[in-house]
Amino acid sequence: MNNNKPIGIFDSGYGGLTVFKSIYKQLPHYDYLYLGDTARAPYGNRSFQTIHQYTLECVRWLFNQGCPLVVLACNTASAKALRTIQQIDLKNESPDKRVLGVIRPTAEVIGDYTKTKEIGVLGTKGTVNSGSYLIEINRFFPNLKVYQQACPLWVPLIENGEFDKPGADYFVEKYIDEILSQSPNIDVLLLACTHYPLLYKKIRAYLPAHIQIISQGDIVANSLESYLERHPEIDINLTKNSQHSFYTTTDDTLDFDYYAELFFSGKVKSSFAEII
Ligand code: DGL
Repeated sequence: MNNNKPIGIFDSGYGGLTVFKSIYKQLPHYDYLYLGDTARAPYGNRSFQTIHQYTLECVRWLFNQGCPLVVLACNTASAKALRTIQQIDLKNESPDKRVLGVIRPTAEVIGDYTKTKEIGVLGTKGTVNSGSYLIEINRFFPNLKVYQQACPLWVPLIENGEFDKPGADYFVEKYIDEILSQSPNIDVLLLACTHYPLLYKKIRAYLPAHIQIISQGDIVANSLESYLERHPEIDINLTKNSQHSFYTTTDDTLDFDYYAELFFSGKVKSSFAEII
């Protein structure tokens, strides 16, 4: 991919593949480079400083691979690192490059899905404690009531391949019960962590039928398409040869490939990204 200028897609692990899958389906002619920082995942319980440092290291690495534009396909990184990267790091180091997140595009549309005007947001501790969804949703839908629930054990279960095993049920039911106990009027549950779609079937099983589950993949893909249309000066720098490659910070890449194939629904042969 040496002369390619791919769109970089970043996540702490392979959860971001749920977003990449939608982006790739919607915009197949672009080139992509996916990076999962699996060696240091999960990010969700880490401090602001650590998440910023790890995310910035990965963004710099993607820039060095030639990506003019990086999508943080991770809510935790979007909540804790995006603003500092956009407003401080990028301005100083790479003013011509762009980094986008997943929270703003989700907040822009989430109010359209609810009839009761009460929604539940499920995310990592980092995302929930940052208050980013409360702030962003309020900007676009000031009359919406937003309830949040941190689900700190879901990402470790997913990253360790337990998402479809019976042991995961206990923790799915626990956090679903906790969010639903906050209001009987919630009719939309937002999966505000790109890993959580991997638990979709189990989450669905513990929810009343009238509650919709919203994942972010298609929302982020639509938003990226519209961004590229509105920013031809960025789009012109991106190569469009329909190539994509995968990188992980774990030196044992086979484990990554196994799960990546399940959730990307295509062949994955990842390479080791020596960042750490
Ligand atoms: N996919 C990340 C997110 O959307 C997972 C965070 C983690 O590594 O804990 O928040």
